[in-house]
Amino acid sequence: MKEFSVVIAGGGSTYTPGIVMMLMDSLDRFPIRSLKLYDNNAARQEPIAKAVGLALKKLAPQVAFSYTTDPVEAFTDVDFCMAHIRSGGYPMREKDEKIPLQHGVVGQETCGPGGIAYGMRSIPDVIQLIDYMEQYSPNAWMLNYSNPASIVAEACRVLRPKAQIINICDMPVGTLRRMSYIVGKTPKDLDVRYYGLNHFGWWTSVKGKDGTDYTPQLIDYVSKNGYLTQKAIETQHMDESWQATHKKAADLLAVTPDCLPNTYLKYYLFPDYVVEHTNPNYTRANEVIDGREKKVFGAAHRIIEAGEFHGDEFEIDNHASFIVDLARAIAYNTHERMLCIVENKGAIANFDPHAMVEVPCLVGSDGPEPLCQGEIPTFQLGMMQQQVAVEKLVVQAYCEHSYQKLWQALTLSKTVPSAKVAKEILDDLIEANKDYWPELH
Ligand code: G6P
Ligand code: MN
Repeated sequence: MKEFSVVIAGGGSTYTPGIVMMLMDSLDRFPIRSLKLYDNNAARQEPIAKAVGLALKKLAPQVAFSYTTDPVEAFTDVDFCMAHIRSGGYPMREKDEKIPLQHGVVGQETCGPGGIAYGMRSIPDVIQLIDYMEQYSPNAWMLNYSNPASIVAEACRVLRPKAQIINICDMPVGTLRRMSYIVGKTPKDLDVRYYGLNHFGWWTSVKGKDGTDYTPQLIDYVSKNGYLTQKAIETQHMDESWQATHKKAADLLAVTPDCLPNTYLKYYLFPDYVVEHTNPNYTRANEVIDGREKKVFGAAHRIIEAGEFHGDEFEIDNHASFIVDLARAIAYNTHERMLCIVENKGAIANFDPHAMVEVPCLVGSDGPEPLCQGEIPTFQLGMMQQQVAVEKLVVQAYCEHSYQKLWQALTLSKTVPSAKVAKEILDDLIEANKDYWPELH
């Protein structure tokens, strides 16, 4: 049986240990011979890598492990790159969230002006990863979580159309897990129909493999409780602010009562509510810095101090299981059905064929094959047309270094009330991002 070589780009991410644990847990179905961590921030990667190294020593000493900041070393002789980089790190996420809020606008990691700002930082960094991979391991696949996934995916389509990259998101998988609790199944028992853009979509059907239709039951449940579930064995999306987001799905559903909404739609459908309920001085970035960061890095330091991994220090989450399933689907041509962000090409029949959409795909060794979702209703179509134009304008602005197009992108975002406010936010974002963005003119 072939054994694979994997590099994780964004080695210093708080999600890296979970992916490594999942890989260790999956060795019998996805054997690996080599695991490398790569990050351009040596200081951040170091504790994670040392702790992960100790875990591997205990769990799978036969797997060659190394970590590096050198792209040649990282990308040579690999089959898969699992990427989850954060350009600018949490300090820049904090600015993405706080600057729009200063103007009374949604401040969010991937939605609205914050997501646009992050997109402008991520594009060159993800493209650089693709180029390293293509140069040093031309047959490899990149499985990419790096956000904002919709803008990143559009940039890949435009700038590296032939690259073997699959852009993905763990939100629908996380929500499907909640749905599976509601109907008393496991996520693997369920097949969905879903359409949208990343962080911007709807489930039209959730069925058991035996054909049982759970959609009406789920719609009834979500209309009362959102995606809040009693069963709380999740490790991801559990903080109080996330619970509020799961709950808010009840209000999202009221707008489109025959399909189940992605939680991220709250930023577009209820932006005023979101702003009112956000502390502009302590945003999600602060929660993560004080929460997940401390937890994961704390665990890493304890392992290093003990000089030994005990077994329960790191948790596996949806994020990890999805990306390993995806690697398996490509490696073994399984044709497992999974949501991926792909060029539409008719999958949503009445939508731009060149838009990057999130739909169910059959994933095999040639990558994802999108499944046709048919025509979508006017309301969702209108929202998606507006949002996809925002995403395309961001990529055009990046490529052309165009202030005008970026201003148009912000102006068109459903989260922003006027061209005036868009310009004010943009000017602040330009100042905050001057070390990252190309100079706009
Ligand atoms: C979900 C999304 C990711 C996003 C994350 C933020 O998992 O799919 O794209 O990065 O939420 O979670 P956080 O806990 O960092 O706010
Ligand atoms: Mn996501």
